[in-house]
Amino acid sequence: MKSRFYSAKMVFVDSIDLDDYIELDSSVRAFEKLKESIEKPLKMILVFGRPGTGKSILLNRLQTKLKHQKEIHYFDTPTVDEKEFFLKLYGVLNQNETFSKEDVTLTMIIEQSKKIRGEREIVILLDEAQIYSSEMMEKIRLISDTRAVKFVVSLHKTDNEELVAKEHFKSRIWEVIELKNATVEDQQSYVHKKLLKKNLFEIANSIKSNEMKLIHAFTKGNYRECNKLMYTIFEISEYYDTNEPTKIRYDKVSSKIIEMAALKLGYLHA
Ligand SMILES: Nc1ncnc2c1ncn2[C@@H]1O[C@H](COP(=O)(O)OP(=O)(O)OP(=O)(O)O)[C@@H](O)[C@H]1O
Ligand SMILES: [Mg+2]
Repeated sequence: MKSRFYSAKMVFVDSIDLDDYIELDSSVRAFEKLKESIEKPLKMILVFGRPGTGKSILLNRLQTKLKHQKEIHYFDTPTVDEKEFFLKLYGVLNQNETFSKEDVTLTMIIEQSKKIRGEREIVILLDEAQIYSSEMMEKIRLISDTRAVKFVVSLHKTDNEELVAKEHFKSRIWEVIELKNATVEDQQSYVHKKLLKKNLFEIANSIKSNEMKLIHAFTKGNYRECNKLMYTIFEISEYYDTNEPTKIRYDKVSSKIIEMAALKLGYLHA
């Protein structure tokens, strides 16, 4: 039989599966704000935050929630190839009617946008937009100027890129939604709710608030780091459960195991 910690471990495999979406104070706030923003007459909206703060899952959630009311499309990891992007966008504007795939140009996209302006309103969710070049972003801006297509631009900020992003967007600020790392409270409900969703009640209850603080301290409240640490904590627990069951507690995840996991992930140095 598989250790009970196996299922707990699997809960924290990193994914943007919407079935696993958790409503947290901060994520609900960001979602509502984004939903309001796209109702406003803005051409572009910026979603900004460090890697692992939940931008992709937020955009996916928005797309799923609004797709019956709106023409809303999620564009995931960008290709560096401009042609491919134009082709994809042109497909959306043309509702996938046939057209020659050879040479979709910016002019064609702008012409088409002008044609549909006032009749249809299209929202494009551009994830990982830090990968687009500034020339490309400039073209995207020109397309948004037609007011037929609204863009939600999602960017992750790292220390170096933050400046670049700010410079680039400063002059054309629309609305900015910033996603932050979780507070201890949000992170605790994230961990608990994720486990409860899979009916792992006992395990959820075995993570007490002092240990949660420790987890928060190691991960700084970052969702992706939290997934990694929780995964590793349960992986270690699984090992003991299978091989040396007298060495672990079942009523409580101990600080010792959390520290072992942190050590393994390099958050802590021996
Ligand atoms: N509200 C939430 N409900 C469930 N899972 C969440 C939530 N917020 C974040 N996560 C989880 O955290 C992890 C990181 O989220 P996501 O991939 O959306 O981050 P990101 O900001 O897009 O990161 P990057 O900048 O690296 O692309 C994912 O596994 C995701 O499932
Ligand atoms: Mg992402």
